[in-house]
Amino acid sequence: MKKILSLLLVMALTMTMFTACGSEEKSEESGKKAQLKMATNAEFPPYEYREGQDIVGIDVEMAQAVADKLDMELVVEDMEFDSIVPAVVSGKQDIGVAGMTVTEDRLKSVDFTDSYAQAVQVIIVKEDSKIKSVDDLFVEGAGIKAGVQLGTTGDIFVTDDFKANKSGTVEEYNKGADAVQALVSGKIDCVVIDNEPAKKFVEANEGLKILDTEYVTEEYAIAVSKDNAELKDKINTALKELKEDGTLQKIVDKYIKAE
Ligand code: ARG
Repeated sequence: MKKILSLLLVMALTMTMFTACGSEEKSEESGKKAQLKMATNAEFPPYEYREGQDIVGIDVEMAQAVADKLDMELVVEDMEFDSIVPAVVSGKQDIGVAGMTVTEDRLKSVDFTDSYAQAVQVIIVKEDSKIKSVDDLFVEGAGIKAGVQLGTTGDIFVTDDFKANKSGTVEEYNKGADAVQALVSGKIDCVVIDNEPAKKFVEANEGLKILDTEYVTEEYAIAVSKDNAELKDKINTALKELKEDGTLQKIVDKYIKAE
C-alpha cells in the first residue's frame, strides 16, 4: 500500500513538473510575438518626442494600440525625418508613423493607411514681427528667411512658393526645435511647421506667436511599403476600430488639451 502511494506521489509530482514546464514554454512562446517595426522622428511634440529615454506621444500610443490589436510587438526606431520613407521602402522598417502628411510625391514610394488626423501648416513669428499674415511671406522681393524641418511638407511648400514669388530663402534644420531657436535668436524671420507642434514650441518659448492665417491643410497617415498590402489592410481595420470605440480620441485628448 505504502509503495503504491509513493508511486502515485512520484507520478503526480512528475506530472506537475511536466505541466509547469509546458506552461512555461507556452508563455515564452507568446513572448515571441512578431515585431511591428515603427520608424519615427521623435522631434515632433505632441505626436512623438522624448521624455527622458522614452519616446512618447500620440503616434506612439496609437501604434501601440494598433500593434496590440494585431497581436504584434511594437518596436520604435528614432531616425531623421527624411530617412523614414526610405526605411519603409527598403523593408528595414514596417511602418512610418511621424505625423506624416500624405503627399502625391510620397505616394510614389510608399502606400498610406487611412488618415488618422488633420493638420495645418502654420507660421510662427516673433510677437513684434512685421509679418502679419501668410501673404506677407510671398510678396516679391520681401526677402523673408523661413526656417523649416528638413524634408517636411513645410519645407517643400515654402521652398516652392518662395521660388515662384522670388520672396525669400529657406533655412533647413534637422529638428523643428532648432528652427524655433534660430527664430528666437533672430537668425530667421519665421518658422513654417505643423500646427500642434507649433503650439508646443510657442508654449515653450517666450515672445513667439502663431499667425492666424493658415498656410496649407493636410492629412496624417501611416506609411507602409507598397509590397505589404496585407499589413496596410490590417492596420486600417485596427484604426477603424480604434476610431469607433473612442480609443484614438482618448489618446489625442491626453496630449492635446481642448482650448
Ligand atoms: N507633417 C509634416 C510632413 O509630413 C511634418 C512631419 C514631421 N514629423 C516628425 N516626426 N518630425 O512632412
